[in-house]
Amino acid sequence: MIVELTKGVYWVGVVDWALRHFHGYELTTHRGSSYNAYLITDEKTVLVDTVWGPFQEQLIENIHEIIDPAKIDIVVANHAETDHSGALPAVMRHAPKATVIVSKRGLDSVEGHFHQPWNFQTVKTGDKVGIGKKELVFVEAPMLHWPDSMFTYLTSDNILMPNDAFGQHYANAFRFNDEVNKQELYEEALKYYANILTPFSSMVSKKIEEVLALKLPVNMIAPSHGIIWRKEPLQIVKKYQEWATQVPEKTAVILYDSMWDGTRHMAEAIGEGLAAENVPYKTFYMPTTDRNDVVTEIFKTKAIIIGSPTFNQGLLPTIAPILEDLKGLRFQNKIGAAFGCYGWSGESVKIIEEHLAQSKIPVVAEGIRAKWQPKPDDLAKCREFGGTIGRAVKK
Ligand code: FEO
Repeated sequence: MIVELTKGVYWVGVVDWALRHFHGYELTTHRGSSYNAYLITDEKTVLVDTVWGPFQEQLIENIHEIIDPAKIDIVVANHAETDHSGALPAVMRHAPKATVIVSKRGLDSVEGHFHQPWNFQTVKTGDKVGIGKKELVFVEAPMLHWPDSMFTYLTSDNILMPNDAFGQHYANAFRFNDEVNKQELYEEALKYYANILTPFSSMVSKKIEEVLALKLPVNMIAPSHGIIWRKEPLQIVKKYQEWATQVPEKTAVILYDSMWDGTRHMAEAIGEGLAAENVPYKTFYMPTTDRNDVVTEIFKTKAIIIGSPTFNQGLLPTIAPILEDLKGLRFQNKIGAAFGCYGWSGESVKIIEEHLAQSKIPVVAEGIRAKWQPKPDDLAKCREFGGTIGRAVKK
């Protein structure tokens, strides 16, 4: 069902209630998602972004409810990733003479995806395109989410359409932030930031400063996923500014896998040591825990304590992916530590510490190992280890 944002500006996107894995690997989406596309009818008709390819017919039907898609004059492709540009060929079949507005790098990525001789127009930050009574203003936003990403701003209605930025993977019956559950909305906005935007935090801060310096009034922030920020729209901008600083809570996360419960007993004793220091912590058993949810918890916390027994002279396989996440997401202001049982060779702790070093997460307590099942002595050392980390968390 289409939704009117303001007179002549419509949400014509698609809510994907069934989506559970975005990209198939990068992000779990427990609450589905949406692909938001916006139709603007002025003297010219403009479509800002499309939807994921499998939903192209629904997009065309939605546009039909307002106007014949053949009448589209301009399609803005803010970002080539196919959750937003997948339906572009379908739109262009209806409106083959439409101008496709892209950033300079978007020209490369959109052409690279579709290999079509469309009528492209490249724009850069500050460029304006008149569409009648209103204008489109463009702001390049590289790495939010790809180098090609761009924001589009609509004058007069003062709507910022920032594509991936400020979005959430959150399917909902409603479109606006004043209509949905605020806690769910922020849970999804944070998960999205933590798992996608963390490594680009310094660029997020700079881009927000740059956009605010333009002094464009903002009545609405309409991202390309999830809910539109209509009530106090700058609240999500302030949250992004806060998240981009990556100042952690004084808490700890223990994540581990265990083969015969020895490493689990160590994890529990480490938790007791943290609790004795009054440091709140959460423990995650990785074989039964969603990795992206753990990444969100890691984003919030200060200490990351990782445990694995030694298995085939390495780690249990459930631990390796989260170590890759730590490296790729480039978290700031964290401290780390490692623990694990072993039977024969005992490399796991050293391997985890090497990964922490590669992720630039300082190790604050010497890794702790227990041979076979931990003895009372070993568990006492784990409590001490937890206490040491707890004191470092409070510093
Ligand atoms: Fe929502 Fe980078 O795509």
